Amino acid sequence: MSTRIPILVLGATGYIGGSVLARLLAHSDRDEFDITALVRSPRNAARLDSFGITTVIGTLEEAGKLEVLASQAHVVFSMADAKNLRAIQAILRGLRKRREDTGDLPLLIHNSGTACLNDDARGMYSSDVIYDDMKPEQIEALPSSQPHRQVDMAIVEADQRGYLRSYIILPSSVYGIVSGPLVNARVQNPYARLMPHFIRCALDRGQVGMVGNGVSTWNNVEIGELTDLYMILLETLLAEPEKAGHGSEGYYFAENGEHTTLSPLL
Ligand SMILES: NC(=O)c1ccc[n+]([C@@H]2O[C@H](COP(=O)([O-])OP(=O)(O)OC[C@H]3O[C@@H](n4cnc5c(N)ncnc54)[C@H](OP(=O)(O)O)[C@@H]3O)[C@@H](O)[C@H]2O)c1
Repeated sequence: MSTRIPILVLGATGYIGGSVLARLLAHSDRDEFDITALVRSPRNAARLDSFGITTVIGTLEEAGKLEVLASQAHVVFSMADAKNLRAIQAILRGLRKRREDTGDLPLLIHNSGTACLNDDARGMYSSDVIYDDMKPEQIEALPSSQPHRQVDMAIVEADQRGYLRSYIILPSSVYGIVSGPLVNARVQNPYARLMPHFIRCALDRGQVGMVGNGVSTWNNVEIGELTDLYMILLETLLAEPEKAGHGSEGYYFAENGEHTTLSPLL
């Protein structure tokens, strides 16, 4: 029987997911990883096959397929869509089945986002509240109506039920243009979502803009530092899992600075 670690990657062609996949492919323990990716486009699947991973063509909307794939993975990287509750419910069903059928305690690493902290200031004021992932009670107190919260709450509840361990990474506004083998192979989106949007708006208007009074503060994180966090977390989980908080204590903000004027859209 194989002793390799079955890993499911969702969002493998994306800006964040592709960056994490590239780090997995370059990892010193790569030979121990048995990587499967769910991919929408057959062309991208064919390109990814050449990197030695298993690809399955499908979408997050195919709940049955997602459930089966999750049931086959010890580690699931969920990096395709931070707000897709039905998809996460399918993943959770699959991981619960794995726990029941095999006794394995699977790990779910989910990419959320700091939009859950949005206070709708629209540039008019700056909040005094500093959110700290060492104070999970702050995050747990956020209402379910905040962006991403329903998904994150379902994940934490699954962890509390004991059939998986969950780790939720919350990137702030990610920046940096990605390069590397998956971009060279024209598989991966190299661009962040927000910055190009603002640049396009500025080009269209012929000048840069400001949201409201420009005093809203938002954090940012460089894509390489975000993937560092993913790798540190994975390596910790595989070597000394008790060292990483999980469930309600398993929220991880990703940031390396802050900026003003942008509306918190992510
Ligand atoms: N980028 C940021 O600054 C940032 C910050 C915080 C949170 N987030 C959140 O992180 C998530 C990923 O962001 P990203 O910037 O990496 O986005 P992205 O570059 O658009 O990548 C999204 C990935 O998910 C896949 N995907 C999306 N919907 C899917 C579906 N229904 N079925 C199957 N695959 C699907 C895409 O596949 P295709 O190649 O087929 O499109 C792609 O691989 C988003 O939910 C975003 O809101 C992003």
